[in-house]
Amino acid sequence: MRRILLIGAGAGDPAHITMQAVAALNDADVVLAFDKGEDKDGLMQLRREICARYVTRPGSRIVQIENPQRRADAGYLAGVDAWHQARADLVRAAILREVPDGGCAAFLVWGEPGLYDSTLRVVERAMVGGGLDATVEIVPGISSVQVLAAHHRICLNEIGEPVLITTGRRLAEDGMPARGSAVVMLDGGLACAALTGQGLDIYWGAGLGTADEVLVAGKLDEAIAQIRAERAAFKAKRGWVMDTYLLRRRPEPA
Ligand SMILES: C[S@@+](CC[C@H](N)C(=O)[O-])C[C@H]1O[C@@H](n2cnc3c(N)ncnc32)[C@H](O)[C@@H]1O
Repeated sequence: MRRILLIGAGAGDPAHITMQAVAALNDADVVLAFDKGEDKDGLMQLRREICARYVTRPGSRIVQIENPQRRADAGYLAGVDAWHQARADLVRAAILREVPDGGCAAFLVWGEPGLYDSTLRVVERAMVGGGLDATVEIVPGISSVQVLAAHHRICLNEIGEPVLITTGRRLAEDGMPARGSAVVMLDGGLACAALTGQGLDIYWGAGLGTADEVLVAGKLDEAIAQIRAERAAFKAKRGWVMDTYLLRRRPEPA
């Protein structure tokens, strides 16, 4: 029986890592990571920094797993399903190859493993059908959503109101929820730009937790031009951009 640990890596700052995560990392024989070629989102660099800072276990090493391409021609959900299966097959093979029976493998997962991340689903699939017998544990991490709220010095919710965490794709299809705030992730196209004229405020952040972090807050109608410009400048500088934002209705003046 092997152990598989999914460890929250934080949203970009190696100091986000928890004491529990450090202990878990030091239990692992190997830290597994999907190889995205030129490290398009900076995740590989963050993993290396975290391991260099916190791993003291002799012989611990990072092992990269080939990252299969996601096909877009079969539709979104079918494409994701096939991609997860391909990743699961590679994870199973890598764990059986790199981790002895009784050993421990860790994944350093961006932000919080339980929020818009497929590693858990992929690992569960890797164990389907036998061949890989393992226990799975999750060590929670600091999500980009928490960092967004902290660095804007806001609460995610208003008093007694709900918060919807959604994607740019869903925001474009569903619009603002009837009540409360919406946190939007995975939005490469700033879907919020279609929601101007509705009295919304926006709290936006790119590269949260990194040295290049950019924050913009204000009325959506007025802030959207600056957000577009900051987003483009960030991408030009880093080669990638990850951004998250919160939308909510501006309170009526008393
Ligand atoms: C695949 S999801 C991973 C979310 C992650 N599990 C978390 O808890 O933050 C990637 C999305 O998270 C958001 N994100 C992750 N890290 C970020 C950061 N440092 N700054 C801004 N947004 C970030 C972006 O919306 C990005 O498109």
